Amino acid sequence: KQSRKIDGDKVDLAEQSLLNKLIRHSLVRNRNQVEVLQRDPTSPLYSVKTFEELRLKPDLLKGVYNMGFNRPSRIQENALPMMLAQPPQNLIAQSQSGTGKTAAFSLAMLSHVNPANKWTQCLCIAPTYELALQIGQVIEQMGKYCPDVKLAYGIRGNRMERGIKLQEQIVIGTPGTVLDWCTKYRLIEPKKITMFVLDEADVMIATQGHRDQSIRIHRQLTKDCQMLLFSATFEDSVWRFAEQVVPDPNIIRLKREEETLDTIKQFYVVCKEKEDKFTALCNLYGSLTIAQAMIFCHTRKMAAWLTANLTKEGHQVALLSGEMTVEQRASVIERYRNGKEKVLVTTNVCSRGIDVEQVSLVVNFDLPVDMDGNADNETYLHRIGRTGRFGRRGFAVNMVDSKHSMDIINQIEMHFNRRITKLDTSDLEEMESLMS
Ligand SMILES: *[C@@H]1O[C@H](CO)[C@@H](O)[C@H](O)[C@H]1NC(C)=O
Ligand SMILES: *[C@@H]1O[C@H](CO)[C@@H](O)[C@H](O)[C@H]1NC(C)=O
Repeated sequence: KQSRKIDGDKVDLAEQSLLNKLIRHSLVRNRNQVEVLQRDPTSPLYSVKTFEELRLKPDLLKGVYNMGFNRPSRIQENALPMMLAQPPQNLIAQSQSGTGKTAAFSLAMLSHVNPANKWTQCLCIAPTYELALQIGQVIEQMGKYCPDVKLAYGIRGNRMERGIKLQEQIVIGTPGTVLDWCTKYRLIEPKKITMFVLDEADVMIATQGHRDQSIRIHRQLTKDCQMLLFSATFEDSVWRFAEQVVPDPNIIRLKREEETLDTIKQFYVVCKEKEDKFTALCNLYGSLTIAQAMIFCHTRKMAAWLTANLTKEGHQVALLSGEMTVEQRASVIERYRNGKEKVLVTTNVCSRGIDVEQVSLVVNFDLPVDMDGNADNETYLHRIGRTGRFGRRGFAVNMVDSKHSMDIINQIEMHFNRRITKLDTSDLEEMESLMS
């Protein structure tokens, strides 16, 4: 399992990705820039604004609408015509969860198969069991009105008899099992695969074994097989892998909305120790009409302490903590997003990659520092950048409890060239005027 240890909590890429899938029932509103690089720049660039334009089979179109998709998302507008093109075209696409990516390639697979042919035609691999199941659910839902198209799960525990040939047109699974099904068990004839989808390439290649298995599966496919590869990020290593697996690709990049401090008012409060910070926090919260707040602590222990004390004060608080399962974390975030709790206390690691749009106040109960105790400027921006999104105004309040943390504030000010104003939380009048 690929993980890094930070702040006493582990970052697990696959878990993070699953978490994001679980909390995303609808597409994220985004104004992200889509950048398209065509393999053949002279051919016209097709994009679609409706699903009808794709000329899907009526049963499939019915499934798409039944899932609540009314029109293509930003990435689908460009990616779907490429994925459905004849003759087939290869695609490398950068996209995060919530962009409609899974629905896009699920649609492509369902549209691609010939239901009359009772053999596997589309192969899709994902880094973990849980992620494969998530994709499978989308395919099943979307293909609800296409009863002749069948799906098999190439995941651990799904035992198959050696030597039989699968009749399911689509197989979704993890690299190890799918490789076994192709080679050892010969349930799938790789030469008959005409569409290969590799999802979450960045997570995939972070595990050496998965990377190798993916390449071994890929090697058995014919060169006419259509290749589609997706990745949330595109570091050099991902890029090299993608080019190895996908020849002559079209490339779609979805640029993330830039995080900015422009619409955020930043403050710091001088405190003595954690009890003092707690009092400041209560004053702050009591004097503001705040939609939702997110509070960052350095350790799980501090987060638990703070949650307990805030709850004692009668606040509705949600705690996101590293020892929770992915499902538990997803349900906490879901409740918070729905406004059931107004305050979310979390460590940095737990909250990574989670977009909550409506946060208007971010509190750094502990300031973000790196291993050497320097200001972690990037994490600061990442935390604060959640407020004030989509041009809305937001507040960030930093708790300073030592000379060292004052130094960190100064470093952050210098780094972003933005002033962080001192706030006295015991002076209600001053607070009201500063924060209005
Ligand atoms: C926080 O909670 C602990 C134990 O639950 C308690 O001893 C402490 O007094 C509380 N602190 C504040 C500031 O309320
Ligand atoms: C953050 O920025 C400050 C000011 O530019 C700098 O001194 C500090 O080293 C930076 N922190 C890290 C971890 O790079």
